[in-house]
Amino acid sequence: MKKTARAHTNIALVKYWGKADEELIIPMNGSVSLTLDHFYTDTTVEFDPALTEDIFCLDGKQKHDPKVAKFMNLVRNLAKKETFARIDSINHVPTAAGLASSASAYAALALSATSAAGLNLTRKDLSRLARRGSGSATRSIFGGFVEWHKGTDDLTSFAEPIEEETDWEICMIAIVINGHEKKISSRHGMQQVVKTSPYYHEWVKTAEEDLKLVKQAIKNRDFSLLGEVSEASAMKMHALNMSAKPHFSYFMPESILAMQKIEELRSQNIPCYYTMDAGPNVKVICEKQNVAFIIDELSKLFAKENLLVANPGPGARLI
Ligand code: PMV
Repeated sequence: MKKTARAHTNIALVKYWGKADEELIIPMNGSVSLTLDHFYTDTTVEFDPALTEDIFCLDGKQKHDPKVAKFMNLVRNLAKKETFARIDSINHVPTAAGLASSASAYAALALSATSAAGLNLTRKDLSRLARRGSGSATRSIFGGFVEWHKGTDDLTSFAEPIEEETDWEICMIAIVINGHEKKISSRHGMQQVVKTSPYYHEWVKTAEEDLKLVKQAIKNRDFSLLGEVSEASAMKMHALNMSAKPHFSYFMPESILAMQKIEELRSQNIPCYYTMDAGPNVKVICEKQNVAFIIDELSKLFAKENLLVANPGPGARLI
């Protein structure tokens, strides 16, 4: 049985940064994200008794990826199956966009592989499974605004939609700041801050408060609260990095330039906020009615082709 699934990437508003369990990927704090429409991964899986190992192709090129094989073992365990599979993944997340393609990748793989294995998992169980591939993938099973409950073990750590089909016209503009390989993977960065940042305890504590506020903002359609909390969560995450030992940072000069521009627009009463993940790109959170103006202003500093706009997107589904 050949099955294809599509899953979209997401941008975290309250960030996940640090693991309580490395193997099971249990986070130290809960997180909230928005699934995005324009960036997604399509993955086709077919189990074939003739294969002697899993064959994984990304964008048409065969890749050796031990993480994918490890993930497929989880699926085989669930399905009580020993057969290997052919896995074909097409990424529609521009790599340069610095949006975690691992989120859409593992959400699409969780759905396509379990379906191809004849399983029919609930979305909660799919979310738990996707989590084992990449933390942010936990949330990409669902559309719209999503919360990942940190939980304490494999059963209790999963995501749930807050508002799956939102009519709130929130947008994200990714400002692509190019050229440099990510120096520190999210996995490494997280390990370093949990172990060494003197502020880590405060991060976990204040994340609880941020979660409450961001959910309140979504419920009340309070854009400034949503933006303020999201921006603050991102900056706290980056402050952890700068306070780790040894310290590190994902900021590039252009990242600072972009953030200053957003602050300048805000001082002119244009509601817009920024967030950043484990890379130099800056993502702007704004409402649809202001996108054109913000793009015009940003294109004074950045090439238009490096400004990518996304809207709220759907959850993972079979296609
Ligand atoms: O799941 P990972 O390994 O892609 O880590 C994601 C970490 C951040 O993108 C920085 C934050 C988040 O919550 O998505």
